[in-house]
Amino acid sequence: MKVLVTGGLGFIGSHTVVELQNKGFEVVIIDNLSNSSIEVLDGITTITGVKPHFEKIDLREKSEVVRFFETHKDIAGVIHFAASKAVGESVKEPLMYYENNINTLVYVLQELSKLEKQNFIFSSSCTVYGQADELPITENAPVKPAESPYGNTKQIGEEIIRDTCKINSQLKSIALRYFNPIGAHPSAEIGELPIGVPQNLVPYITQTAIGIREQLSVFGGDYDTPDGTCIRDYIHVVDLAKAHVVALERLMENKNLSNYEVFNLGTGKGSSVLEAIKSFDKVSGKKLKYQIVGRREGDVTAAYADTTKANDVLGWKTKLTLDDAMASAWKWEQKIRNK
Ligand code: UFG
Repeated sequence: MKVLVTGGLGFIGSHTVVELQNKGFEVVIIDNLSNSSIEVLDGITTITGVKPHFEKIDLREKSEVVRFFETHKDIAGVIHFAASKAVGESVKEPLMYYENNINTLVYVLQELSKLEKQNFIFSSSCTVYGQADELPITENAPVKPAESPYGNTKQIGEEIIRDTCKINSQLKSIALRYFNPIGAHPSAEIGELPIGVPQNLVPYITQTAIGIREQLSVFGGDYDTPDGTCIRDYIHVVDLAKAHVVALERLMENKNLSNYEVFNLGTGKGSSVLEAIKSFDKVSGKKLKYQIVGRREGDVTAAYADTTKANDVLGWKTKLTLDDAMASAWKWEQKIRNK
């Protein structure tokens, strides 16, 4: 069965392509290479032994999207990752974010709606919850006004899909709300490739340990948490990738309870920034240099998932630990720097 993965050369996309191919799906990747590298295709091929079909297409070009779908009418499912994801950049360039994340989603849904099989998986984020009033966060927690244009694109994206599902009963969709994806494939053939100074914790940790950054700034030591640092639900990207395959199969096998469903994807366990550093030190045998500095604007104190719905309804559970994720991220960092 042919599956389209948009943004399939990106961090989560590439790991999902591997898991799809491991399960025998035929994968077609669309990526515009704006935040990814063509070499990722080789990494995927080395791991799975199968080179996925790749088309360099910019989904903002509507005519390209139309042409693509006309030549791939046999697509049985779409996993839509292609989007920009830097919170700070989105504040500076809101229109770019709305064009990249919203226009492209609309074009893909318009063309998908012409196909016989309309199974659609959407990359959403726990950012839709903001600072939730109750922890762990269930899917019923209210969606809070977005803190950034990036966050808003995820909320609007979900609304667009929900509204489209209401009038198109053939369209079946699942929005997956990720908590904090980290780590890399255990083979170190694929991983995260942040451009410039990393904004996220784990690439900053590994780049510091390898000597590219002088030290990690821990943003805030005075939060209302046991050690004063923020708490997040760090999920191994391989576990996360597997959830996409399970979700797609759920739609393909008509196991969905409605034609628009939402699931949290997390481990259910919250870890503080200092615990994440401790985990890194343990698996790397290093002592990470860090300093506690002021809070970062927009950070919530704590966010971790209630995984009951994902476990019981979707039938998926994380298997890998924070230590596994840190070890794989470190292996990946060493591999790309020794090249
Ligand atoms: N952190 C540091 N130092 C750094 C980078 C991060 O201390 O150099 C801390 C942050 O303050 C936070 C934690 O590490 O407490 C995790 O930060 P990340 O940037 O890795 O991830 P976020 O929790 O900010 O990201 C989440 C989601 C995104 C979403 C974002 C904003 O994963 O999709 O929240 O709501 F966009």
